[in-house]
Amino acid sequence: KKKIILDLDTGIDDTLAISYILGSPEVELIGITSTYGNVLVDQGIRNDLAVTDLLGHPEVPVYPGESHALNADSFAVSDISAFIHGKNGIGDVNIPDSFRNAESMNAVDFIIDSVKKYGKDLTFVPTGPETNIAKALQKAPEIKDEIGSIVIMGGALTVCGNVSATTEANISQDPEACDILFRSGAPVTMVGLDVTLQTLMTYKDSQQWREIGTSAATFLADMVDYYIKAYETTSPHLGGCGLHDPLAAAVAVDPTLVTTLDMNMKVDTEGEIRGRTIGDNERLNDPHKTIKVAVGVDKERFLNEFMTRIGNLAAS
Ligand code: BDR
Ligand code: CA
Repeated sequence: KKKIILDLDTGIDDTLAISYILGSPEVELIGITSTYGNVLVDQGIRNDLAVTDLLGHPEVPVYPGESHALNADSFAVSDISAFIHGKNGIGDVNIPDSFRNAESMNAVDFIIDSVKKYGKDLTFVPTGPETNIAKALQKAPEIKDEIGSIVIMGGALTVCGNVSATTEANISQDPEACDILFRSGAPVTMVGLDVTLQTLMTYKDSQQWREIGTSAATFLADMVDYYIKAYETTSPHLGGCGLHDPLAAAVAVDPTLVTTLDMNMKVDTEGEIRGRTIGDNERLNDPHKTIKVAVGVDKERFLNEFMTRIGNLAAS
């Protein structure tokens, strides 16, 4: 079985990524590493523990990760993140806190240990800023050749960003960290706004979960309705909410859901274009490409898998 680590700033769509992976019997979620972004890292940990409990998987360990970007010494949640994900990150829906605690090992060491243990069988899926994986690559650079794959939700190549014309939210939090990842040589698949804004969820879909009637399904429906409502304000043209993080999770399970371009990528770290993900001119002629950038997605197949897998999990 493929082993998965989710690296999350648990947020609404991060919660959907957890749900997707737990609803996918062909993979094993060996742990969640927490980070900051949609929420502070402590709130993220709280959400990871509470959500995995509610979804019937209290065995999933949660590892505390970085609380701020590499070149910063603190982090504050932006007003826009709080608006889109709610103050508590899960659409201001109240669910019981877990009785469990996070693990004592930190996220960076757990990532390194897991690569040593599982090697090519391990897929690492960051759906927040890339700070934890950048730190792991700095501490143990050899893991770039040992890990199976890293599937990130982040960036935009063929469309504009969502925090500025050039920048997507996760990359904006820590451009240096993503640049370290892109230049490391590790095998990365970038699932960015190019594809995640093609996969949308509507009230009609959440209603299907609501009708299941379990507490898990009702929670997911309430949380997603909050998210769709926020999207109605921020992106009324879309007609739904973007399924960013669960698409990255789905690609980790089944890479054939997307079509990709083989590229060598970098992140701009200076000036107005800080945070832009773009092809690296200096490595344009290097025949060895390490990043697969998703530019096409089988929307119908993904949405079908998404509704079914999460529906089945929430019903059980
Ligand atoms: C990404 O930013 C976060 O707000 C979401 O959880 C997602 O990971 C989308 O740009
Ligand atoms: Ca996220």
